[in-house]
Amino acid sequence: MTRTAPETMDETDVIDLLQTQHGMIRNLFDEVEQAPADERGEAFTRLVRLLAVHETAEEEIVHPFARHAIDGGDGVVDDRLAEENEAKELLSRMDEAGPDAPDFMPNLLMLRAAVEAHARSEERYEFAQLRAHTSEAQRRSMAAGVKAAEAMAPTHPHPGTESATKNLLVGTPIAMMDRVRDTIRKAMGKNP
Ligand SMILES: [Fe+2]
Ligand SMILES: [Fe+2]
Repeated sequence: MTRTAPETMDETDVIDLLQTQHGMIRNLFDEVEQAPADERGEAFTRLVRLLAVHETAEEEIVHPFARHAIDGGDGVVDDRLAEENEAKELLSRMDEAGPDAPDFMPNLLMLRAAVEAHARSEERYEFAQLRAHTSEAQRRSMAAGVKAAEAMAPTHPHPGTESATKNLLVGTPIAMMDRVRDTIRKAMGKNP
């Protein structure tokens, strides 16, 4: 069974959580690609929500920590942020043009290639070192913020639970990210 419901994930290690989300993101790209035209928009919205949750959690929690914790942290993190920003720009353009735009599918493939290459670079250059340079307790405390963010983005349309969450992440990808950032900062006990 593929695991695509972040709200039911039980990992308590931040790196396990984020790597599981990388798999969920891949699955959601499959769903958008394979969806019939009239369901593509709904699947794309779930992908946008998960990307907003995932990338914002990394930017708020993991990247700042990695800057100090790993060798050459600043360079590694700056490279990842540049990749994330490029993907966000494309995501915003696609969101604005909508799922019926003639270039939606070629853009989706481009976005997928960029997001997946980015995830591989994170796993290779950032997460592996971060695991080696952090304690279990540190990784558990970072996981709390990721879980709070995840709860905002069910990746399946669940009748019942969807109504509780559907108003949380709406609007443009940037608006979603702002909302996720507030939630993470609250969960981590920081002022917005
Ligand atoms: Fe990322
Ligand atoms: Fe990532």
